[in-house]
Amino acid sequence: KNVAVIMGGYSSEKEISIKSGQIILDHLDSHKYHGYGINVTEDRWYHKTASGQEINVNKNDFSLTVDDEKIIFNCVYNTIHGTPGEDGKFQAYLEMIQIPQTSAASYQSAITFNKRDCLAVLKPWDILTGKHVYVNQEDYIDIDKIITQVGLPCFVKANRSGSSFGVSKVYHRDGFEKALETAFAVDNEIIIESFLDGMEISVGVYKLNDEIIALPPTEIVSENDFFDYEAKYEGKSQEITPARLDRSTTSIVQILSKRIYKILKLKGIARADFIFHNGEPHFIEINTNPGMSAESIVPQQIKAAGNTLKEFLSQIIEDTIK
Ligand code: DAL
Ligand code: MG
Repeated sequence: KNVAVIMGGYSSEKEISIKSGQIILDHLDSHKYHGYGINVTEDRWYHKTASGQEINVNKNDFSLTVDDEKIIFNCVYNTIHGTPGEDGKFQAYLEMIQIPQTSAASYQSAITFNKRDCLAVLKPWDILTGKHVYVNQEDYIDIDKIITQVGLPCFVKANRSGSSFGVSKVYHRDGFEKALETAFAVDNEIIIESFLDGMEISVGVYKLNDEIIALPPTEIVSENDFFDYEAKYEGKSQEITPARLDRSTTSIVQILSKRIYKILKLKGIARADFIFHNGEPHFIEINTNPGMSAESIVPQQIKAAGNTLKEFLSQIIEDTIK
């Protein structure tokens, strides 16, 4: 079967996505799949052959013509972080041309990638979260009022982004304007969240044959102020898998992760992030195309669950095309 691994994308997370994509390509079972890496850039979508030739994708049917042979894909393994692969756009295109892809469907991806909308969908379900305020670039922003609502310190985040791009932790009112500027550079919508003190926990969740499965949780110990880009990708953090939680707490956060996955109607591998605040898991966000690079959390969790990445990818792909 032919599998296209789409990676790159248009956002600042493109380099991480290429690392994730390379890991996926390296771990596809070669007895079952022919993997083709497809780099998705704003200008063009292309495959680079082993000899270095770059071949553009035919956008009518997402096929490739390699040495006069037309390659039709049975499945797209989607590992684009950010737009257009995590926010539903690429999913919508693939849905239109009827090629199955491994991540959440277009509508679910669009909702989940939008931090405010995701929180709004989860609101009726009694899931603990921090306090948050949403603002649009055109809105009048009353900083004092926001601080009264969320307290200090707080996080100022781009509403639609990942890997901590556009995120600042604000301690004093003085730092607020700069944080707004940082977030608005990434998105014209932002979300301001209260700071929750506590252990940071991340849980991979996926679905096989309609059963939702949670991986062993990871505990994140960051040397930096929060789990920012440097902590994530430049070694400034320690990830402990499985997390140092007792059995019942592990089970509580796994059940919660599965519940959130189910409410949001996701598919494929997702990763839910929480803070244990006052002894209870508070939901931060869920990523529908979590990092799969060597530094990323989900591959560590797959290993801790006693599975190999190769087998895991085969399971996801078979479930996608069945
Ligand atoms: N957005 C990054 C890639 C992650 O969630 O792992
Ligand atoms: Mg994220």
